[in-house]
Amino acid sequence: MRLKIVQAGELVLRQSARPLTNAEIGNSDLQRLIHDMRETMHDAAGVGLAAPQVGLPIQLAVLEDRPEGLADLTSQQLKERERSAVPFQVIINPTITYSSEERIEFFEGCLSLAGFAAIVPRSRMVRVDFLNQDGQRCSVEAQGWHARILQHEIDHLQGTLYIDRMRSRSFASLENVTRHWKGLTTADILSKLG
Ligand code: CO
Repeated sequence: MRLKIVQAGELVLRQSARPLTNAEIGNSDLQRLIHDMRETMHDAAGVGLAAPQVGLPIQLAVLEDRPEGLADLTSQQLKERERSAVPFQVIINPTITYSSEERIEFFEGCLSLAGFAAIVPRSRMVRVDFLNQDGQRCSVEAQGWHARILQHEIDHLQGTLYIDRMRSRSFASLENVTRHWKGLTTADILSKLG
């Protein structure tokens, strides 16, 4: 079932989500929710979705960067972004460690700020410790775009949106990002924006 994605201004997007209990993780309702969140994310052509975005203040997010979603990017763009396909992942009760000082800046969007994007600096590498959908302890070390998605989704669980971290002068409609900035590097875009 496709779920409704709430938009910026809904208070749930600004709350700290609560951790899930082991009993909740074992429950079939949660498995159903994970299934529905995945379907909703695919339907919206997103690469991540956090539970607060469907109105639930719980520490749960899903992510997946599918090969077909990469088709519109050139090999140069994929390389710059360090972006490659990421299999479906369920992240419950995560803690994030920023593993490098290095910050990478690219346009990113959010399904809860539909139609907009901005340049957002993110750590190049992160480590995330979390529970998977079976309640097993897992950890992932990610780099590049995968690390960006993890940071974005885990921010959602803490009531943070990309607009809190963006280069505010770069905030633009998706249409204008394509119209004005297609093919330019982040450094060029930022220098033109002043
Ligand atoms: Co988002």
